[in-house]
Amino acid sequence: MSSLVQVVALARQSSTPLAGIMHERIGGYALDDIEFVAAFDVDAGKVGLDLSKAIFQSSNAANAHVSVDPVGVVVEAGPLLDGVTGPLSRIITTHEDSAGLDPDIIRRRLVETGAEVLVCLLPTGSTEAVQTYARAAALAGVPFVNATPEPVAHDADLVALFESRGVPLLGDDLRSHLGATTLHTALLDLLHSRGLRVINTYQLNVGGNMDFLNLADPGRSASKQRSKRRALSAAGIDASNVAAGPNGFVPHLGDTKIGFLRIEADSVLDTPLSLEIRMEVEDSPNAAGVLANAVRVAAAAKAGGISGVVDDVCAFLFKSPRQAATEAVGLRDFQAFVAALP
Ligand SMILES: NC(=O)c1ccc[n+]([C@@H]2O[C@H](COP(=O)([O-])OP(=O)(O)OC[C@H]3O[C@@H](n4cnc5c(N)ncnc54)[C@H](O)[C@@H]3O)[C@@H](O)[C@H]2O)c1
Repeated sequence: MSSLVQVVALARQSSTPLAGIMHERIGGYALDDIEFVAAFDVDAGKVGLDLSKAIFQSSNAANAHVSVDPVGVVVEAGPLLDGVTGPLSRIITTHEDSAGLDPDIIRRRLVETGAEVLVCLLPTGSTEAVQTYARAAALAGVPFVNATPEPVAHDADLVALFESRGVPLLGDDLRSHLGATTLHTALLDLLHSRGLRVINTYQLNVGGNMDFLNLADPGRSASKQRSKRRALSAAGIDASNVAAGPNGFVPHLGDTKIGFLRIEADSVLDTPLSLEIRMEVEDSPNAAGVLANAVRVAAAAKAGGISGVVDDVCAFLFKSPRQAATEAVGLRDFQAFVAALP
């Protein structure tokens, strides 16, 4: 969330195109058209603060790259549900109002604030909380972007609810802008396009932010592992035995994420080919490039009368789309969708 707020602030301060932003306008929306009207959290250190201050609280590992003026939106307490468990509960003190809060508050506040898109960036593993926010968005008529790997676009009842309310839904599990999954699947596509046979591959990731702390708990990371395997299956390999996922919380890395990829393949005459890549990236800004696309697509989809899962864009923007596609097809469909918007 911090990086999305920062990139919108930077767009306001800058007159030249920003690195990593694919489209200046999507459906007529520029980045600096994004206005924040409401924010929910359960962290007592963030609730009650202006959004511009809450994003820089110490529990949030995202680095400050831009000065952010006060937004005029105070972070409100949301219902706790299963949002904070395991290792997260050691560093997050939950706000006293969150436990036992009526979940309908979300729907009511979305309506009162005139929100046009709800972005869900709750911790992985908080299925109940994520699905509660999704339901609230559908009932409020607000398009929903599910950045988490918890099932929303993969939940038949929720999809039916979005369809019946005429509300767009984007998910599940946001891809990073250029992250380990995208690099991995693009390389697999490349090898397959040359007819090579992939024998073994892995993708190991370590990092030091709250997401990695949370994912260090096996009880919380199951959906993330599933999601990464789905992305690899879409790239045409049997991912059932592939190690792919978050593999370690290293506190001193902070928001730096390091991914290690290895691919072993057979080439002509069964000669071996292997490659190893180490990718180092700041994790949170890497999500903001995709969110900048997803938020504007969601608003444009609503304006265009689209209901339910926006399949044409999800394979490019998410690791676990309902309809899987290769990198090339996902990008082609996304670009075609954006180009067709008024
Ligand atoms: N590069 C990325 O940052 C990236 C990329 C793809 C997917 N994702 C996914 O996005 C999600 C969020 O990632 P993050 O790095 O921003 O996590 P984070 O841990 O930094 O932030 C999660 C926030 O959710 C709050 N929260 C917990 N329970 C809540 C509840 N019931 N209601 C409201 N707020 C609640 C926490 O207090 C915290 O502020 C994760 O599922 C992650 O896997 C992140």
